[in-house]
Formats: sequence, structure tokens, C-alpha cells
Amino acid sequence: MILVLGAGGQVGSELVEKLRAKHGNEKVVASDIREVGNSEGPFEVLNALDKDKLHEIVEKYKIEEIYHLVALLSATAEKNPKFGWELNMDSLFYVLDLAKDKKIKKVFWPSSIAVFGPNTPRENTPQHTVTDPTTVYGISKLSGERWCEYYANNYGIDVRSIRYPGLIGYKSMPGGGTTDYAVDIYHKALESGSYECFLEEDTYLPMMYMEDAIRATVELMEAPSENIKIRSSYNLGGISFSPKKIAEEIKKQIPSFKISYTPDFRQSIAESWPKSINDSAAQNDWNWEMEYDLSKMTLDMIKNLK
Ligand code: SER
Repeated sequence: MILVLGAGGQVGSELVEKLRAKHGNEKVVASDIREVGNSEGPFEVLNALDKDKLHEIVEKYKIEEIYHLVALLSATAEKNPKFGWELNMDSLFYVLDLAKDKKIKKVFWPSSIAVFGPNTPRENTPQHTVTDPTTVYGISKLSGERWCEYYANNYGIDVRSIRYPGLIGYKSMPGGGTTDYAVDIYHKALESGSYECFLEEDTYLPMMYMEDAIRATVELMEAPSENIKIRSSYNLGGISFSPKKIAEEIKKQIPSFKISYTPDFRQSIAESWPKSINDSAAQNDWNWEMEYDLSKMTLDMIKNLK
């Protein structure tokens, strides 16, 4: 049995669908802080900080595997730093301790490009490099990575993680991230034909289409344990583009589309992150291969949002 924490979120909603298609609806328990409409299988309301309820659910369903997707993202956590730290870290410890105490067998927990900072090499960022995050979100993800590796090394737990780039999909909206413009821009292009971007036109960031991100997650979790040599978190490259580049791609489909730029506090967050990522470790260890580039993603986004 599988439990997904944060099942109503941008990743959670798509991952639950995928896992249920693979293992059967009844094998995947979805949970979120509030009721999620139309759950096709078991669902539990769960605040990830409610350790007792988490333990109850794990026992009730005999859970063996947890996907822990709960977090306050980069922009939101900057507005509430202490709570961002508490939510992102405490909830991770509750899950890691369940694995340490042998109540569950396997954990997935996402990290992010936000673990990098202003002194990280920004082009083709290596797996092992300077990590000096400037956001609470990044600090919590970097600390989480260290703890995942610590639990793997010292308690032998099977924890696996990916440093997701900015994620783009049509099925759900992200909440509170710096890379979210790249989702919003497609919605606005179709609704009003124009978009006011909160990042400058030449701000390159690593991004990934949700199809690829979900497939990466499933492939990482299905790989033989001995292949998973990195127990902190794997770099995942994705597509590197700027607001200007994505706008040009959208214009190929919607020629009248217009973009304007009004950078806000998220500009400095974006500038502290890499422009592109080297994911050769993921390629070597579990045969990772990306499928969607910017134009393929744009065609698919527009087709599905229409
Ligand atoms: N998409 C996230 C954010 O912008 C990065 O992991 O916060």
C-alpha cells in the first residue's frame, strides 16, 4: 500500500493518478490538508504536522511506501519563514522516523533546484557543488537532503529523492513558487492573449514538463536499490528557458500573444538559482532520459488547456 502526502498539490494530483493507474485505485491512499474532489480511491484528510494521525493512517492501511510531497514553496515560505521551516522539516522527520522504525519500507521526498545559491556554478550545474541557498525553502530542502542521506547511511532506510526543476503541467496549478510563471503564462495566453511576467525576460531557469517529472519519479522509485547511489537527491536537468523564449514558442501557436515584464521579489530568488542542470548521475544510475523539449511541451500544454 502506498500513501501520498500532499495529494491535492501540483505534483500530488498527477502522481496519485499515475500510481493508481499502475497499482490499482485501492492500493494508493491520497491525503491532503483539505478534501480533494473526486478521489478515485481511498482519501484521508491529514495535516502533515499531525504525527499521531499520520501514524494512525499508516497502521490502518498497512502502508509500505510514502510519497511525501507536502511543502511551502519558495515564494510562500519567504512570507512565513518560521512556518515554512517547521512544515517542511518536521513533516519530513515524521516520515523518515516511520522508515527508521520499520513501519514503512520506502520513502520518496522531493528536493529542488532551490538548494543551489548565488555561488553555485549556474550553467550545467553539477550534482556535487556549492549549495548556499538564500531562501527558507532552499534551506529546508538542502537540510532535508542531508537528513535523508544521514538516515540512509546510519539506519539503512530506502529513501529516494529528485531535485525537481520548475514543473509545468496543465492538470493543476502550482502554488507559491518562483517558476510558476511558466504555467500561468499558458493559461493567460489562452484566456486573454497577454501575460505580465514577474521575472525579467532573460531569466533562464531549469524547467520540466510534468509528464517527464512524474515518469522520473516512478522510474527512480522502481529502480533496484543498489543502483541508487545518491541518497541525498538527484539533479534532474529538464529544459532551460527564459520568459522571452517561452513567449516566442507560444507566439508560434498564438501569433497575437503579448508579454510584458514587471519583475518583483521573485526575480532575486530566480537569479540565485541555476540556469541549467547537469543530470548525468541520474542518467548513469537509473537511466534517466527526458522526453519533452520546449516546443513539444508548448504544443501539448496548449492542446490540453484548450
Ligand atoms: N518550483 C519551485 C519554486 O519555484 C522550485 O522547486 O518554488
